[in-house]
Amino acid sequence: MTAPQRPDAVLSLGDVTLRYGAAAPVLAGVSLAIRRGEFVSLIGRSGSGKTTVLNLAAGFLGPSSGQVLIDGRSVRGPGPERAVIFQDDGLLPWLNVAANVALPLKLAGIGAEARRRVALDLLGSVGLADQGDKPIWQMSGGQRQRIGLARALAARPEFLLMDEPLGALDAMTRERMHGLILKLWRDSHAGALLITHSIEEALFLSTRVVVLTPSPGRITHEEKTLWGRRFLAGEDPRALRSEPEFIAARERLVDAIHAREAA
Ligand SMILES: Nc1ncnc2c1ncn2[C@@H]1O[C@H](COP(=O)(O)OP(=O)(O)O)[C@@H](O)[C@H]1O
Ligand SMILES: [Mg+2]
Repeated sequence: MTAPQRPDAVLSLGDVTLRYGAAAPVLAGVSLAIRRGEFVSLIGRSGSGKTTVLNLAAGFLGPSSGQVLIDGRSVRGPGPERAVIFQDDGLLPWLNVAANVALPLKLAGIGAEARRRVALDLLGSVGLADQGDKPIWQMSGGQRQRIGLARALAARPEFLLMDEPLGALDAMTRERMHGLILKLWRDSHAGALLITHSIEEALFLSTRVVVLTPSPGRITHEEKTLWGRRFLAGEDPRALRSEPEFIAARERLVDAIHAREAA
């Protein structure tokens, strides 16, 4: 459709330092590569620089030193191959549900008929098949985040960048969104970067969890995980979460997040 589809695209930060103005660096020596088909979660304390990493990957910010690359090409700004989802859904209240989902296609110059077809198809995949003609204000918080996901996928991005997208949702809605996010990630073949406060969510959704520790932000720990893939394969999420390996990984991540707190 709009974005070129490269199955093995890589989005990477290489030895990135980031300063805001003259202040001490917020990030120092951060290297992180996200391949398509990977799901990387970034966790760390508030203020450790997680959103800054995402803004660099999105191209909203440029690094003070080091590089942000897609397949070896320097990222110079935002692009249609990278979709961004924030906690605030960012939907346009004067457009109906389907028109919100179709917006990236409209911006890409796709005709009205084709846009609507893609939008309704995507709404079906997020469980909102019959809601296309409704106004945004009638949608619940969970429905809005699903509309936001559908819109993010409309331009068939190679990378999905998510900054605490589920942070404002209640626990039950969050749980239901986990399965949906995993399915959309699998079906879209995108590479995902998720920032989350929840260690369990990170372990459960990702193929890899990365810990950022602050002052300056550095990557100090990585965990590979396979629980999300097993959930997708049909295993019971509650059973997976109570496995000793899951609990041990959670403990390692808690330790890594708080490692330098006393220093
Ligand atoms: N635009 C900005 N200008 C100056 N300082 C900023 C800006 N954005 C973030 N910071 C600072 O950078 C640090 C990391 O912020 P952020 O990346 O938002 O962390 P996180 O998402 O992990 O909470 C914080 O100390 C924050 O105050
Ligand atoms: Mg943040």
